[in-house]
Amino acid sequence: MESRVFLDDCMRFLANAAKEAPLFDFTFLDPPFNQGKEYREHDDRLGDREYWDWMREVCRLTLNHSSPGAAIYFMQREKNSENVLRVLRESGWQFQNLIVWRKKTSAIPSEVRYGKAYQVIAFATKGQRARVFNRLRIDPPLPNGYKPREKGMFVTDVWDDIRELTSGYYAGDEALRYDDGGRIHKQQSPIALLLRMILSSTNPGDCVFDPFSGTGTTLVVASQLRRVGVGVEKDEVNFGCIQTRLRDARDADSILQYRNHYIHTSSLSEIWPASKADHSTNASVPMLLN
Ligand SMILES: C[S@@+](CC[C@H](N)C(=O)[O-])C[C@H]1O[C@@H](n2cnc3c(N)ncnc32)[C@H](O)[C@@H]1O
Repeated sequence: MESRVFLDDCMRFLANAAKEAPLFDFTFLDPPFNQGKEYREHDDRLGDREYWDWMREVCRLTLNHSSPGAAIYFMQREKNSENVLRVLRESGWQFQNLIVWRKKTSAIPSEVRYGKAYQVIAFATKGQRARVFNRLRIDPPLPNGYKPREKGMFVTDVWDDIRELTSGYYAGDEALRYDDGGRIHKQQSPIALLLRMILSSTNPGDCVFDPFSGTGTTLVVASQLRRVGVGVEKDEVNFGCIQTRLRDARDADSILQYRNHYIHTSSLSEIWPASKADHSTNASVPMLLN
């Protein structure tokens, strides 16, 4: 399946061009977090009110163009959970879960309270019930001496088996880099994170939307899973990077390396069909230990 990316402001896209796109069955919202980071095309120092009003409007316009029962996953810093839940509610989304994505290698330190070692991902739906919810099974390693599980376990709302790409050399091959080794985009999301959300909340042929595409991780995963990806990115350099990433498949972007993690999922061959676009690698990433 083809994924498409548009060079645009996501609000303008949602108000206009989105009408030409299929209804969204899934949206991943990973906006700038308004924490003073440097973006070429975005001011990350907005007033609180302006920022959250903007987020509410993005959520509202996305809802308007979503199918009944569609899913949205809104990722944010833990300290903003309250606002995330509020803007989702005020824009008409129905809350389902607050997912804790526990970081493997990094934390935001604090001298006056505990350091922050996780991000939140609010999962909500258009209407009371998700149109698709595929119950995935994983099989994370057990402590020594425990009897192996025969069928793994269902994924819960704590995700502690997905490594972030944000910290230095831990980012590995998956991080997109310039020739001198510098990171192209410091907020690149991991393939494994998008794989879990898209597999859980969509079926092949469904439309997957990412209004803040960044490096295009959502679209790269959507294509491999035979979903129709629609992305928007405002920055021309990132936009070019997404086009290259979609065109020239990289082994590090292959979702096949994670297939074994989900092998106990009963519907796996239906929700994750073999694809011509599958990358060549057969290497498998072991599930991470805590
Ligand atoms: C946190 S990053 C997303 C990273 C992405 N999840 C990935 O895997 O690479 C947010 C992105 O939104 C883009 N952006 C900021 N404001 C935007 C807007 N109004 N419309 C579209 N994109 C925007 C930024 O240029 C940045 O690349």
